[in-house]
Amino acid sequence: MKQTIEAVQQQLDQLRQQIEQFNYQYYVLDAPTVSDAEYDRLFRKLQRVEQDYPQLVTPDSPTQRVGAAPLKSFAQVAHNIPMLSLNNAFEEDEVMAFNRRVCEGLEVQEIEYSVEPKFDGLAVSLRYEKGILKTGATRGDGYTGEDITLNLRTIKAIPLSLSIEAIPELFEVRGEVLMLKADFNRLNQQCLEKGEKAFANPRNAAAGSLRQLDSAITATRRLMFFAYGIAPSEDSKVPRDSHSAILQFLKTLHFPVARECEVVKGCPALLAYYRKMAAQREQLPYDIDGVVYKVNSLVQQDRLGFVARAPRFALAHKFPAQEAITRLLDISVQVGRTGALTPVARLEPVFVGGVTVTNATLHNADEVHRKDVRIGDTVIVRRAGDVIPEIVSVVLAQRPNNTQLFVMPQYCPVCGAKAVRTDGEAISRCTGGLFCPAQRKQSILHFASRRAMDIDGLGEKLVNQLVDNAIVRNPADLYQLGLLALANLERMAEKSAGNILAAIEKSKHTTFARFIYALGIRNVGEATAKDLARHFGSLDRLIESDMDSLLQVPEVGPVVAQSILDFFAEAHNREVIERLRASGVSWEEQTDTINKASKNNDISGKTFVLTGKLPNLTREEAKEKIEMCGGKVTGSVSKKTDYVVIGDDPGSKYEKAVNLGIALLDETGLKKLLQLI
Ligand code: IVH
Repeated sequence: MKQTIEAVQQQLDQLRQQIEQFNYQYYVLDAPTVSDAEYDRLFRKLQRVEQDYPQLVTPDSPTQRVGAAPLKSFAQVAHNIPMLSLNNAFEEDEVMAFNRRVCEGLEVQEIEYSVEPKFDGLAVSLRYEKGILKTGATRGDGYTGEDITLNLRTIKAIPLSLSIEAIPELFEVRGEVLMLKADFNRLNQQCLEKGEKAFANPRNAAAGSLRQLDSAITATRRLMFFAYGIAPSEDSKVPRDSHSAILQFLKTLHFPVARECEVVKGCPALLAYYRKMAAQREQLPYDIDGVVYKVNSLVQQDRLGFVARAPRFALAHKFPAQEAITRLLDISVQVGRTGALTPVARLEPVFVGGVTVTNATLHNADEVHRKDVRIGDTVIVRRAGDVIPEIVSVVLAQRPNNTQLFVMPQYCPVCGAKAVRTDGEAISRCTGGLFCPAQRKQSILHFASRRAMDIDGLGEKLVNQLVDNAIVRNPADLYQLGLLALANLERMAEKSAGNILAAIEKSKHTTFARFIYALGIRNVGEATAKDLARHFGSLDRLIESDMDSLLQVPEVGPVVAQSILDFFAEAHNREVIERLRASGVSWEEQTDTINKASKNNDISGKTFVLTGKLPNLTREEAKEKIEMCGGKVTGSVSKKTDYVVIGDDPGSKYEKAVNLGIALLDETGLKKLLQLI
C-alpha cells in the first residue's frame, strides 16, 4: 500500500529524531541506550526511506553527516564576529595580577569566575541559521577561517539542527574539536596494523583529520567537540546574565560541555582549580594545555572590554611549556624488552614541562634520518605528560659545521648478537632474545611494573644487580628468591630485602588482565590485555587460541594476533608461565566470575561510578573487580548509572546519585554484589 507523503514525512521525522537522540546519548552523554545493531537497523531504515523519497532528504538528516564529494580546496569564511585569542599566564603572580586588574577595573573586592579546561585542540565556530548548521569554520587568523562544514558535520557530537524556538535566527557556537585519548590510541593501533605512520599526539591526529578535503575520511576518525562559548548575542532567547548560564544553555541544546567547568570566587580558588586540573590532567579523557578563567558576569565582562585582540575579562593559565630548545650531545642505542634497538638522544639538560630532561627518544633509525637529526645539532624537545620526551625537529639555522651522522649498529650494543631489521619494519632488533641481559632486565622490569604485577620496590638498580649476578634470569625466578640472596646484594639491608619479598608474595594474587600485560607480549598493551582477558576468560584458552579465535577479539588485528601466537609458540615462554603458576601466581578466572555474577544479579553491562576513598580497595582494584564481573566503571553519575560506590569523603557524585535515586553501595555492599564475600 502506498503511504501518503505526510505519513512518510512523519516517519522520517521520527527516525531522524530517534537517531539523533541516540547519537546524543552515545557521543555527548557517554551513556548509550541502544545496541549498535538496533542503531544500525534504524539508520538503514532511514536510508531506505530517503532513497525512495529523495525529495524529502534534508541537510540535517543524520544520513547527511557524510555524503558530499571530496573538495578541491577549502573556501574562505569571514567571521562576522572575530574569533579572538586569550592572554596567557604561566606563573601564579601573573594570575594574581590579572585578578587585581579585574577587581580594580570593576571596583569590587571579589570576582566570580567561570573556570574551564583549556582544550588542546582546534578552535572552530559553528553557525546555525534558522536552527540548521550552515557553516563550520576554523579560526584561521581570527577574522577569516576555512570552511570545514562538511568535516564538522561528520562529528556526531555536533547537533545538525537546533530548535529555532530556543535560539535566535542566527546563532554561533564556539568551541574546540579534539580527539579523545582513547580514540587516538585506537587510531594509532590501527595505523600499526596497516603499517602506517602513527600520529604524534591527539592534537595532530585531530588536525590531520579535520583538514581532509574528503569528509568521508574525517568520518572514519572519531572526533569530539566541546562548546566553550557563543558569539555575543543581544537576543533575549540567549542568557544574558552569566557565562556559566550560557554553558548551561549550550548543554540544554545538546552541545557537549566539559564536565570539569566550575564557578568559583576569588583568586585563591583560581589557583586551586589550576592545581586540581594539573593533578587530574593525565586522567582526563582529552588533552588540555592549561585552564581558562573567565569573569562570570556578562555585565562585568562588557565593562572590562578588550585590549587589542584579547578580552580583559579572561585569562588562559597554561601548564609549563612542553617544548624546549637544547643541544644534542650524543645518540646512544638502548635495547628494549622485545629487543628493539632505540636511538636515544643525550641532551644538554633542559627544563621542559616542569622537569629537567637529559634524554629523549628518537624512536628508530628511519625517524633519525627523516628528521635529519645529527649529533651536535640544536633540537626541539617535547615532553607531554608522562610520555617519554621526544625530539620534535632540528633547528637547521643553528646547525654547526661539524655535526656527525648517526648509524644504527649491526650488533646489539649489550650482548653483541646480530641486530636484524625485517622488511617493512622500521625497527632493528637484537636477536639475542632472553640471552641478552638488556632484554632480560627490561622484561623483568615490565613484569614488576605498577600496572602489571605491581611489585613495589623492584626498580632498575635492583633488577640490574639481580640479572648481572645471575640470580634472576626471568620473571619466574623472582618467586624463588630467598632473603639471603637479596640481603647479600650491595646496598640492601635485611629490612628492605624483607619488604621486597613481601611485595613479591603479594603480587601472586593478581588479575588475568594484569598477568597477560605483565608477560610483555609484543604489541599487547594494557587495553589489549584487558580485551584478551575478557574474551578468553582463562589462560589455557588463550594459550590454545589460533588466528581465527584471536581475530574475534575486538580491536585485535592480524599483526597483534601474530605477536600473541609467536609468544606462546616459544617453549621458553610457556615454561616460564608454568613456573609462575606453580609458584602460586593466580587470579580468579573471569568466565567463572561472570557466570557466577550473571546467574544471580546480572552485573554484566551494569554501570558503576566510584566516589570517595574505600577502606580496603584502591580505586583501580575496585574497577578491576567490577570489570571482571562484566560491569563498567564510568566517571560521572547520570540517569544511566546503575550503582554508585561510596567511600570516605565522597564528592558531588554522591549528592547527584541521591538526587537521581541511584542505588548506593559501600565497599562491603559492592563485594557482596560481586559475590566476592
Ligand atoms: S574562550 C575571546 N575557552 O584557546 C577568546 N578558549 O587563545 C575566547 N581554548 O584557540 C576563547 N579552551 O580555541 C576559550 N575553555 C576555553 C578554551 C579556549 C581552549 C582555545 C581557543 C583559542 C585559544 C584562545
